[in-house]
Amino acid sequence: MKHDKTAVALVVAMIVVLLATGGISAFAQESHIGNVTGHANGGGQLRPDAGKQLYRRYCIGCHGPQGDGNGENATWIEPKPRDFTAAVFKCRSTPTGTLPTDDDLFNSVTRGFITTNMPAWKPLTNHNRADLVAYIKTYSARWKTDMPVEPIVIPPEPSVTIEGILHGRELYQKVECWKCHGAEGH
Ligand code: HEC
Ligand code: HEC
Repeated sequence: MKHDKTAVALVVAMIVVLLATGGISAFAQESHIGNVTGHANGGGQLRPDAGKQLYRRYCIGCHGPQGDGNGENATWIEPKPRDFTAAVFKCRSTPTGTLPTDDDLFNSVTRGFITTNMPAWKPLTNHNRADLVAYIKTYSARWKTDMPVEPIVIPPEPSVTIEGILHGRELYQKVECWKCHGAEGH
């Protein structure tokens, strides 16, 4: 009986310490892509190659040891490698100002960014890329504090009507497409 109580107290104390240091969440960062679960750090004995190791091998030279885009090759690269500490991403299915989905990041890592130095990482397995996505998410606390958001639903293409075309002309002015494409679209 006495032993039990001591054991319970010990476990509670350990949990308090882990919560206070953020130890649990930082360690347990995951990604979910379809039925694949990615692990940032050590997904058990079977997965010694989880996110952190992969990042060190393939990504660190550009995105840097701190994930801030200041890898040793960054000086020579334009556009610059993404700064993961800012948690602001270019290719998202989610509204402006929100975090991307795990799938969005997974697709970016898979496809790469044509005309930049960001390669397509197709030679890695799906599991490898899921682990990398989980690891990238450890670089910003926003992945713990922000609520996950649903992707934007793109409605079916509207039929061509006069009202639609007039609305398009209005938008062309409003969001300043003309600044590059010109008033006459030339
Ligand atoms: C040779 C340099 C280089 C390497 C190596 C590299 N990246 Fe990148 N990465 C870039 C650059 C440059 C960009 C920015 C592209 C842009 O702005 O269009 C980028 C952007 C990204 C983005 C941003 C996607 C978005 O929507 O904003 C992610 C995620 C990413 N890289 C992940 C990785 C991962 C994971 C690895 C390792 C497997 C990796 N990168 C290795 C150069 C690199
Ligand atoms: C900052 C300059 C800039 C602005 C602003 C801009 N565009 Fe573009 N747009 C371009 C460039 C450059 C290309 C050619 C890209 C290429 O060839 O890869 C392009 C290409 C396109 C294309 C052709 C895509 C294709 O498949 O060939 C369409 C359609 C288009 N823009 C529509 C728009 C609309 C609508 C807006 C306003 C919402 C807009 N653009 C605003 C620079 C701009």
